Amino acid sequence: MIFKRSNTSNQQDSGKINGQSITATQLGRSNSEWRNGYGMPSDGKDTNSKNAPTRKLTKNAKSIIIYFSRSGSTELLASKIAANTNSDILEIVVKDNYSGNYQKTLSRANSERENEDYPELNMQVPDLSQYQTVYLGYPIWAMTLSHPMTSFLKTYGGQLSNKEIAPFMTEGGYGQGDSVDRIREILRQQGSQNNTFTKALVVDGNKVDKADKSVNTWASRVNNN
Ligand SMILES: Cc1cc2nc3c(=O)[nH]c(=O)nc-3n(C[C@H](O)[C@H](O)[C@H](O)COP(=O)(O)O)c2cc1C
Repeated sequence: MIFKRSNTSNQQDSGKINGQSITATQLGRSNSEWRNGYGMPSDGKDTNSKNAPTRKLTKNAKSIIIYFSRSGSTELLASKIAANTNSDILEIVVKDNYSGNYQKTLSRANSERENEDYPELNMQVPDLSQYQTVYLGYPIWAMTLSHPMTSFLKTYGGQLSNKEIAPFMTEGGYGQGDSVDRIREILRQQGSQNNTFTKALVVDGNKVDKADKSVNTWASRVNNN
């Protein structure tokens, strides 16, 4: 099947996170144009062609939002959670950005998954001991965690003992897959103990701009925010 080159004309400057603008390429697309996220482009910089990676780290916050986003939807969802909470924010950054081209991203992601060869991170992670709650945000890839979050958890998961984990994600309409089980599995492998889990927040990638009500309800159920 041949897919037309994706139309980027309806990219929207859709919000701000920590004062920086967010461009989410899926917003405003009808379901027939969106096609469950298939073919969605990004700016090729994992949300950051114009902005520095998001980092808001304070001394007193009891919760932190840690997220990865390729084409902006999960970043927009993270911004809405940030607006509802007093959380710090940390964007996951990989050394080699995923391509702006969907097909190239898909083949890279498939190869990484088949070989269990997850991307190298390019970020400094602070001591996470001050946080009681960790919001973990990611897009669904192949019905599981997208790989930058896998890398993050495989590297820093051991720091998450005794914390409440609040997963949130955007996806192409097929749901959360096994992503939360995967978080549990990696945390166990990394020696993280006594985690509690909030039921995940799952939002279609082209509808994050309409998710305020579900974000508010969900965020109010999470402790320590
Ligand atoms: C490599 C790749 C694989 C994907 N696999 C799935 C999938 O298995 N199921 C699904 O519902 N959506 C899938 N999607 C769609 C994304 O989950 C969806 O577009 C998401 O909103 C992207 O978030 P972002 O804008 O924060 O990067 C995939 C997207 C990419 C790039």
